[in-house]
Amino acid sequence: MKTHRIALYPGDGIGVEVTDAAVAALQAVERRAARFHLEFERFDWGMAHYDRHGRVAPDDFLDTLRAFDAIFLGAVGWPARLPDHITLTPLIRLRQAFDLYACVRPARTFPGVPGPLRNTDPIDVVVVRENSEGEYVDNGGVLAAGTPAEIATQTAVHTRRGVERILRFAFDLARTRRRRLAMITKSNAQRYAYVLWDKVLVDLAPAFPDVAVEKLHIDAATLELVRRPQTFDVIVGSNLFGDILSDLTGGITGSLGLNPSANLNPERRFPSLFEPVHGSAPDIAGKGIANPCAAVLSAAMMLDWLAESKAADLLRSAVERALAAGHLTRDVGGTLTTTDMTEAIVDQIG
Ligand code: IPM
Ligand code: MN
Repeated sequence: MKTHRIALYPGDGIGVEVTDAAVAALQAVERRAARFHLEFERFDWGMAHYDRHGRVAPDDFLDTLRAFDAIFLGAVGWPARLPDHITLTPLIRLRQAFDLYACVRPARTFPGVPGPLRNTDPIDVVVVRENSEGEYVDNGGVLAAGTPAEIATQTAVHTRRGVERILRFAFDLARTRRRRLAMITKSNAQRYAYVLWDKVLVDLAPAFPDVAVEKLHIDAATLELVRRPQTFDVIVGSNLFGDILSDLTGGITGSLGLNPSANLNPERRFPSLFEPVHGSAPDIAGKGIANPCAAVLSAAMMLDWLAESKAADLLRSAVERALAAGHLTRDVGGTLTTTDMTEAIVDQIG
């Protein structure tokens, strides 16, 4: 029997609650599938670690994680206690140091879950977010700090290699789906960075003649995703635009509480990282009302990555059936607690 070694990084706030839910669902599917074994090791990094050691993760946390087959993260951040740019540093370092350049964020509507749009036709999209460079590189500085003349600069970095590999990834993904790709930039105003994206698209598109390509600027994309979401399939964009768009696609499909993500190193030189798209939500932390679906669906993406696709499908269909049967947490109009919802999913796994 194959053993997969999983590092758990529950993090802060509801990250801890939804990680517990994901582990319960994974263990249920492991029992049911009886084909593989998941070995978990848990790292209590984040605010808990900060309170004891004065930093959110140990200096060698990357070395620790490197040995695992996959990493599962709950959520990080607790802005009232420590500024987000400190608590979130390990997550961004992980994505960059492990070259997890393909961030895959599916968002779909589920039967039984109400959405905010008047047009209730099913939506099924995937945001592919460039996850290793762009607007998230640590490249900038501050002059004259604290004075009225203070100057902050932050320079994004877009490389041809980085853009090309994420566009290829998105094209390949579109080929496994409805063969439509929308590339989102702001090349009408940012005439170096996003014009590079335009150029690389022109170079690559001929290799994928079976994929219909559409180009939108980020402002128009936010409008069109609300107006005609069903016309989108795979949506690809830079780090920041992918971040913004994946909250939007979560919103239009019902709740961020339903949106999983995978941060992949497609070459498998490093372990990939799986996490819900939502954050640590300190306002509801500890209340036991967080929606565990995003975390469970992220666990399903992790199983896919570990080549346990049958078990992944089982997890996904358990979530689908539980939702369709009317088991809903508060964010989607129900009354269930995190534990109730997790039990409903586990019951469906059988
Ligand atoms: C996300 C989050 C992160 C990001 C934060 C927590 C740094 O919003 O994963 O979407 O901006 O990437
Ligand atoms: Mn985000």
